[in-house]
Amino acid sequence: MEKLIPVINKLQDVFNTVGRESIQLPQIAVVGTQSTGKSSVLENLVGRDFLPRGAGIVTRRPLVLQLVHINAEDSESQWGWGKFLHTAERKFFDFAEIRDEIASETEKVAGANRGISSDPIRLRIFSPHVLNLTLIDLPGITRVPVGDQPEDIEKRIREMIEQYISNPKCIILAVHAANTDLATSEALKLAREIDPEGKRTLAVCTKLDIMDEGTDAVDLLTGKIIPVKLGIIGVVNRSQQDIIDCKSIEEALRDEEVFLRQHYPVLAGRNGSKYLAQTLNRLLMQHIRDTLPVLRHEISSKLSIYESQLQELGEPIKEKGPALLQVLTKFASNYCHKIEGTSRDIETHQLS
Ligand code: GDP
Ligand code: NA
Ligand code: MG
Repeated sequence: MEKLIPVINKLQDVFNTVGRESIQLPQIAVVGTQSTGKSSVLENLVGRDFLPRGAGIVTRRPLVLQLVHINAEDSESQWGWGKFLHTAERKFFDFAEIRDEIASETEKVAGANRGISSDPIRLRIFSPHVLNLTLIDLPGITRVPVGDQPEDIEKRIREMIEQYISNPKCIILAVHAANTDLATSEALKLAREIDPEGKRTLAVCTKLDIMDEGTDAVDLLTGKIIPVKLGIIGVVNRSQQDIIDCKSIEEALRDEEVFLRQHYPVLAGRNGSKYLAQTLNRLLMQHIRDTLPVLRHEISSKLSIYESQLQELGEPIKEKGPALLQVLTKFASNYCHKIEGTSRDIETHQLS
């Protein structure tokens, strides 16, 4: 998603000038049953290994991951660093340590025996390679309590998920594993309840590599089984064995592409982790485009406030008035220009 960075930076400039805090991009949250690959999908999007993943309930507290874009010259290491709310000023340059910290912080609050907690872990990643974006990793929907889980585990996890995805600005990634029946997808069911029109739900179908012999996902991926307005994107994440073998993200992405071209030649271009990132790019762009008219309006209303303030100052300053007004008008048109420029950038933005 690095392609969006220059556009966002330009806009940020405009936002600062009109005194707005910052451009708010939608949050992205993953929803699905246990071990469908939610954490894996998020990790692929960020392009770093830093999330605990594995069989069974691994994600047991929400993780609110705020990505913060910094300039390359301000970055103290090539990829940047992580910072947890609960560890204050400590900077984590080693992403494996970030994963260990998430695991031990999970255990501290939710216990060692598969307990859950709605108290989120807050992690910020500062990097020249990220967009200002918030991603939310959530525990999976589950029915039957195990370990220290309460009797009403299902209800609790649902409420936890709803708390995040009810935000109308949240993009819901409904994650479903291809080796189970999509018609019974808890992720899509929950997403439909919260986003009945499907305006902000994107389906992600994981584990294309471990479907039963002789079956394929063509009907599923083309929406013939269940249509999803924003699309259904198939991906292949790293398997448990890949995790044990410490397979890198880069290698996994390459293998994913090869797999898709081999097994789904016709659909390969519209699936895979890379395509998922591009699709999210497009959704974020759409959001930015939607905010431009508001921004334009704010600038012109600022200008008219300045103008009437100048009028009120009355006679003595009058000769200074026009000059000041000129400056302000120039300033405003300059920024309207910038917005136009950014709009153009967005219109012509090539997704490749
Ligand atoms: P979560 O519980 O939904 O967050 O799922 P995780 O990301 O922790 O993954 C659960 C397990 O499924 C891990 O062992 C992953 O290696 C494995 N996994 C996830 N996605 C895929 C996939 O696309 N293919 C295969 N073979 N395994 C996957
Ligand atoms: Na899991
Ligand atoms: Mg997880």
